[in-house]
Amino acid sequence: MENPFMYGKPVEGEFYFDLPYLKREMQDFIDSKINVLVMGPRRSGKTSFLKSFLKVQRSRQKVVIDIDAFNVLSHKDFLNQLVNALKREKTGTQKFFEWLRGAKDLSPVFKWESNPHSGEVEYSINFSKLEESDTKQAILSTLSGLKALQNQHGVIISIDEFQRIGELEDGGWLEATLRSIMQELPEIAYVFTGSRRSILEDMFNNSKRPFYKSCKQINFPAFGPEFSAWLIERFKKANVTASPESIHYLREKVADTPNYVQEACFHLVSHGIKHVTGKEIDEILDIISSQGSYSYEALLNTLTSVQIKFLRLFIGEGKVDYSKEVLKRYEIKTGSNLQAAAKALVDKQIIIKEPGGSFTFDDPMFKIWLNKKLILK
Ligand SMILES: Nc1ncnc2c1ncn2[C@@H]1O[C@H](COP(=O)(O)OP(=O)(O)OP(=O)(O)O)[C@@H](O)[C@H]1O
Ligand SMILES: [Mg+2]
Repeated sequence: MENPFMYGKPVEGEFYFDLPYLKREMQDFIDSKINVLVMGPRRSGKTSFLKSFLKVQRSRQKVVIDIDAFNVLSHKDFLNQLVNALKREKTGTQKFFEWLRGAKDLSPVFKWESNPHSGEVEYSINFSKLEESDTKQAILSTLSGLKALQNQHGVIISIDEFQRIGELEDGGWLEATLRSIMQELPEIAYVFTGSRRSILEDMFNNSKRPFYKSCKQINFPAFGPEFSAWLIERFKKANVTASPESIHYLREKVADTPNYVQEACFHLVSHGIKHVTGKEIDEILDIISSQGSYSYEALLNTLTSVQIKFLRLFIGEGKVDYSKEVLKRYEIKTGSNLQAAAKALVDKQIIIKEPGGSFTFDDPMFKIWLNKKLILK
């Protein structure tokens, strides 16, 4: 029998818990041509949601260009992802590719070959010959060419991990270029998602930057109590019973991170557990966090001793406390030492500073691992 849980990659079909409210909200925005930015923590289900939403749009005959910016570290990477997204969308892009073929300035960039089997023309990018100036020109021309993507039902462009665009060290060129294309092609609806809140908030709320106030900003929601009921039903498929309390406990332990919830459930099933209680949850989280030891150890090795002391204090106290007594207990000399450590850990993306000023761990499983490792008992 197949395990009813899945983790570590975007989920769909029966592994996907539907988010009807968010879906409806997004649909309303997109139908009104309001561009959207969805921000949420790592491993919370943004990509799964986006894929499911875009699938609905395709079924409504919209042309969907979905770009994954996760691995975009240069303009060549972006061009590659853009062209791949266009290739994936088979219907509705013929006109665009006819245009692309005829664009004289792009002839050194793209290779055209006839597939002897299907007889179809296939195109790829001539990366070896591409200079930076050609790459920029190709991005610019390809984006402007999107006006050829006419569809009576509408066109959607989505970019997952959008913060990558803001992180490129290109003097803001791609960010500005994308924004001006958006302004040139207002009939296209744009959906962006991303996880690095600090970067995204600066991109969208800083009046000096091109995307300033260009999108409706939505926080990716926590899954709510229905998710627990869904998990219990999934367990039943494997003849496992789980109490609502145990599921509640699990969700709390992993900071309600869907990926880790599913990972724990997956392992409970594969370990042959038949009845899930808090005890089984503790054991399985211990196993999962130990599996990460190698990389967590490596991460810990990159930290200074005061940064490690910060983590010990943060876990031990449940918050960052600057009082003399607490500093003394954790052997930290001054409050400013503690502050500097916090800043360094935020920069390293180990902890996240929330809008209210409190901190959380980027990776709740790392926190569980640290808790075993660092706390003096
Ligand atoms: N709607 C959902 N229903 C059930 N499980 C989900 C859902 N969304 C996410 N998950 C769980 O979380 C995992 C990660 O999902 P996904 O890749 O969509 O998250 P993400 O926020 O895009 O993550 P990342 O920050 O790594 O890009 C999935 O493998 C699954 O276990
Ligand atoms: Mg993702």
